[in-house]
Amino acid sequence: MARFIDELKRTHGCGELRAEDSDQEVVLFGWVQARRSLGGCVFIDLRDRTGVTQLVFDTEICADPFPIAERARTEWVLGVRGKVRAREKANPRMDTGAIEIAVLEADVFNEAKTPPFLIEDDIDTAEEKRLEHRYLDLRRPQLMKNLLMRSSLNHHTRSYFHEHDFTEVESPLLVKYTPGGARNFLVPARLYPGSCYALAESPQLYKQLLMCAGYDRYYQIVRCFRDEDLRIDRQPEFTQIDVEMSFINQDDLFEIIEGLVFRLWREVLGIDLLERYPDGAFPRMRFDDAMRDYGNDKPDLRFEMKHTDLTALVTEHGGGGIGFFAEIAEKFRDGTYRADLPEELVKALVVPAEHAMSRKQVDELEKVVKRFGAKGLARAKVGEDGVWTQSPLSKSVTDEMRLAINEAVGAGPGDLILFQSGPEARVQTVMANLRLHLGKKFGLIPETGAGGDWNFSWVIDPPLFERTDEGGWAAAHHVFTRPHDESLEILESDPGKVCCYRYDLVLNGFEIGGGSIRLHDPKVQAQVFRVIGLSDEEGRDKFGFLLDALTYGAPPHGGIALGMDRIAMLAAETDSIRDVIAFPKTSRANDLMTKAPGSVDAAQLAELGLAVIPQDAPSD
Ligand code: AMO
Repeated sequence: MARFIDELKRTHGCGELRAEDSDQEVVLFGWVQARRSLGGCVFIDLRDRTGVTQLVFDTEICADPFPIAERARTEWVLGVRGKVRAREKANPRMDTGAIEIAVLEADVFNEAKTPPFLIEDDIDTAEEKRLEHRYLDLRRPQLMKNLLMRSSLNHHTRSYFHEHDFTEVESPLLVKYTPGGARNFLVPARLYPGSCYALAESPQLYKQLLMCAGYDRYYQIVRCFRDEDLRIDRQPEFTQIDVEMSFINQDDLFEIIEGLVFRLWREVLGIDLLERYPDGAFPRMRFDDAMRDYGNDKPDLRFEMKHTDLTALVTEHGGGGIGFFAEIAEKFRDGTYRADLPEELVKALVVPAEHAMSRKQVDELEKVVKRFGAKGLARAKVGEDGVWTQSPLSKSVTDEMRLAINEAVGAGPGDLILFQSGPEARVQTVMANLRLHLGKKFGLIPETGAGGDWNFSWVIDPPLFERTDEGGWAAAHHVFTRPHDESLEILESDPGKVCCYRYDLVLNGFEIGGGSIRLHDPKVQAQVFRVIGLSDEEGRDKFGFLLDALTYGAPPHGGIALGMDRIAMLAAETDSIRDVIAFPKTSRANDLMTKAPGSVDAAQLAELGLAVIPQDAPSD
């Protein structure tokens, strides 16, 4: 019978022993983090998920285990029995730095090849290499800490919802494909050649059906699948904390979610959000205000640098002598939408004198905004009496326009005004990214992490519809979002002005959740379909079962889904969602370790009734 594991059971984790444990006999199991040979002694740092302990192998203490210490190399797996003793000189950088283990007995569970990179934090090994050997990368203390933290987020989420009378229900992942929304992954159905399931992009319709079925309060920590372009905060498969409730309004839903977030921050991060939000609620910002002031619907509110919308002012001044303003002034719709013209916008942002930038730096900035899609970066430095310098605009701008702009944006001597004008979507994207770029450049927000500032906000009251390229209307989020009661009268006559009960929860510039109060009234539902030009038949084809369910007595209901990966990423203060996912995909949706996706053979395809059109494989 093996002595270690069978007889000698592990007594402690490698990160647990302290000075007060001195003289105890302990048994530790773990991996060799480092090994040093020093004057007849061998020191080994032994690591497990709880931390690292220094082992001392010394022939004067005990000769038997010494040969093992001489042979052992990094990442070998050892078991040791030994005595805890105080170190002559404590190491304050280690949690266990006050002690070491004088080894009396040791065994090698397994030897290890030399790993392709050091198992340490802050290594600069290429991410590809680390993902290829993810099981080694996952040994790094930081990743281990992240995953343990994520496990704790799951644990506290579950207990919170159970305490609040929610029922956890699992919903199908193989679902019917419906057009619209995110692009779905398709799964060929062997029994129905030519037909496919879709992998669920979210349990949306099912959770609504559960409300129709009377389950009242549902939650699920659920995997979702979307075949989208990936970014730092997106993965093709990700996890939602999915919630739906009956007989509630928006305020009720917010209260439950705020309770959850306060609980998670307190229990998992040890942060009391009540200090910042004493009434236990997050502030709310209207969607229109977010777009006006920050250019997007998930503003980072940790710093100011708001945008100013100059469209009306510029129009009033007929462009004020500036060519490209004049073009917009001419086009600017006089309150009526012209589908033949894209909506256009003029926005400005002020870099205050205290963050003065050299000409060269501003030229660099122009390159940066071009990466966000800008054509250029119009700018004006404000001189002593309000004149514009360092700007091609200074020659042509009228005095009235110049003074009016200075006043509107609140710019004084030494300030730099940066402008963007053109199609609304482009101006908003460029200006939103420019603001974030400057915020980081000037140190107003850190490159990564919260910097001790956890700034939450709800973004509420967005429009129900958005324009399509063809000049019609589409549902801005999804067709089962409930319009504001005050908007019902204008639902069909003025769709662009209809606001709805849709909301996002934003943390430090990231959307960590989104949801809505649903439309449970079939009559209003029919009106919404009419506005977006969906015939009854098409509606039935797309959402048949939900439409049916709504006619059999649906309770008023609403819900939300929080992005668990994003919450974990922000809580871990890391800059990549991959750091909080055990086995993530690359930005090209590959798994470099298992080499998924992989090709399948002709017989498998034939069984599914599929044929492949050969293509060049994308390089990673
Ligand atoms: P939505 O599409 O807004 O809503 O998604 C909810 C939240 O999920 C997270 N998220 C993602 N996280 C990582 N990778 C992705 N690719 C990804 N996509 C979304 C975000 C987002 O806020 N059914 C609705 C919810 C509802 O209305 O109840 C839904 O899925 O944090």
